[in-house]
Amino acid sequence: MAANIERMSMAQAVPAPRAFAGAAQSFAVQPAKGVFIENRWRPAHSQNAVDVVDPATGIVFAQIADCGREDVNAAVAAARRAFDQGAWGRTRPTDRGRMLARVAELIARHAEELAVIEARDTGKPLSLARGDMVATARYFEYYGGAADKVHGDTIPYLPGFFVATEREAHGVTAHIIPWNYPAQMFGRTVAPALAMGNACVIKPAEDACLSAHRLVELIAEAGFPEGAVALVPGRGETAGAALSGHPQIDFISFTGSPEVGALIQIAAAKNHVGCTLELGGKSPHVLFADADLDEALPIIGKGIVMNAGQTCSAGSRVLVERAIYDKVAAGLAAYFTGVRAGSPEMDLDLGPVINAAQKKRVETFRARAKADGIPLLAEGSIAPGVDPAGYFVTPSLYGPVPRDNDLACEEVFGPLLVLIPFEDEADAIRLANGTDYGLMAAVWTRDGNRALRVSRRIRAGQVYVNGFGAGGGIELPFGGMKKSGHGREKGLEALLEFSTLKTIILRHG
Ligand code: NAI
Ligand code: MG
Repeated sequence: MAANIERMSMAQAVPAPRAFAGAAQSFAVQPAKGVFIENRWRPAHSQNAVDVVDPATGIVFAQIADCGREDVNAAVAAARRAFDQGAWGRTRPTDRGRMLARVAELIARHAEELAVIEARDTGKPLSLARGDMVATARYFEYYGGAADKVHGDTIPYLPGFFVATEREAHGVTAHIIPWNYPAQMFGRTVAPALAMGNACVIKPAEDACLSAHRLVELIAEAGFPEGAVALVPGRGETAGAALSGHPQIDFISFTGSPEVGALIQIAAAKNHVGCTLELGGKSPHVLFADADLDEALPIIGKGIVMNAGQTCSAGSRVLVERAIYDKVAAGLAAYFTGVRAGSPEMDLDLGPVINAAQKKRVETFRARAKADGIPLLAEGSIAPGVDPAGYFVTPSLYGPVPRDNDLACEEVFGPLLVLIPFEDEADAIRLANGTDYGLMAAVWTRDGNRALRVSRRIRAGQVYVNGFGAGGGIELPFGGMKKSGHGREKGLEALLEFSTLKTIILRHG
C-alpha cells in the first residue's frame, strides 16, 4: 500500500492546490486578517490575498493578505513613530526584558494551540511543532533576561578626556522570515531585536505564516507599546521587496535562499544599511574510523530526516573514512529503511515538504541521481492512508556519491542523505570545505587532538565534536561563512547585530 501511494504520487504531475470543498467538513476557509499595525489588525490596502495550503493534503484552508507598498509604508511609518517619538523608544531595557519574559510565558501558555497551527501550516509532525514552541518561548526568555545586561566600555584616552561607548538600537529593523521553522525563526530574529529596543517590521513567509499572525497578537498582549512590532504578510516579490527596499528601515535580517539573499543585500546597499543573511548549507558530518558509530549514526539519520530535510543547518553530507564506509552505509541504510513520512497527526518521522515547488525540487534531485547512476542505498516509505495530493517525498540514502556531483555539492532542502568516502585527515578537510557553503559541521572521533585540529580547519560557523544539534541551542552563536551568509544570530552575539555602537568623548580638562 505504501509503495502504491508512493508510485502514484511519483507518477502524477506535482498536484496543484485544491480549494476546500468538503461538504461534510464543518470549517470554512479562514479569511485573511489583514495587516498588524500598532497592536491591532487592520484591513490591508492591497486587495490581493495569498492562499494558505495544507501541505499534507494540498487543500487551501486559509488566506493571508498580500501586502503591497502602501501597507509596508504604513507599517514602517508606525514603527518609525514608535522608535523616534513614541513610548517604545523610551522604554527602559529592564522593562523591555520583562515584556519579553511575558511573551515567553504567553507562548508557553498557548503552546498547544500554536503547535497545531504550525503543524497544519507546514505539514511537520505535531511533536516537532511542539518542540518548536518550546524553542520559540526560549528565545523570548533568553533575550528577555539579556535586555538590561548589554554594557558599554570606557576607553583610556588623552589626559583630560573621559571616553565611553554604548550600544544603541538601529531603529526600525526589517525581518524577512522563511517557512521551515516559522515560529522559531520569528523568535530567533525578533526577540533579540526587541531586546535592544528596535521597532520590528516582520514579513513572514507566504508559505507558512499563521503562527506569526498569532505571535504578534501575543506580543501586544504582553504589553509592548504600539509600533514596537508590525506584521506585513504577503509574497516575497510584493511585501518582501517593498520592505527590504524601504528607505526608512535601518537594518535587515534575512533567512532564506541564496538568490533572494543577494537581492536583500542589494536593497540594503542602496539604502546604506546593514543586513544579516543566513542562506543555508551543505553541512558535513566527518566520520573518522575511531568514531563511536552507535552514538553517531542515529543522530546523523534523524538530523536529515527531521522537518523533511528542510533545515538550513541539516547535516546533509556524511564524509566517511574508507575503512568504516561499508559499516556506516549499512547502519544508515537500516535507519532509512525504517523511516516513515505521514501527516502531522500521524506524528511519524517526517511530514510532507512545504509546497509543490519544493516537492518538485526534491524529485528532480532524485531523478538526476538515478540518471547519473548514483547507488541508492535505502529508501524510507510514505505511510498508507496519507492524502496522495499531499507533498510527500521519499527519504533516500545515496552512496558513494561522486564528489563533484550536484547531489554532493548543492543544498537539496529535502530528506536526501549523501555518503562520500575519504582517505585521510587532509582529504577529509578538503572535502568538508569543498562546497560553496559553510554553515555547520560535525567531527566524529575519539582522538581529542584530531577533533580540535579538524574543527579549526573547517570553514563553518558552528562545528560540533561528537554530536550534532541542527542550529544548536539558543545560547550558541550561529551563522554562515562563505556563501552561507554573514552575521551571527543566537547567543549574545545577536544583540550586537541588532545594535550599533556610539562613542561619547567627554573633555573635562
Ligand atoms: P525564499 O528565499 O524565496 O524565501 C524566504 C523569504 O524571503 C520568504 O519570506 C519570502 O517571501 C522572501 N522573499 C522572496 N523573494 C523576495 C524578494 N524578492 N524580496 C524580499 N523578500 C523575498 O525561499 P523559497 O523560494 O521559499 O525556497 C527556495 C529554496 O531556498 C529552498 O528550496 C531552500 O533551498 C532555500 N531556503 C533556505 C532556507 C534556510 O533556512 N536557509 C529557508 C527557506 C528556503
Ligand atoms: Mg522564492
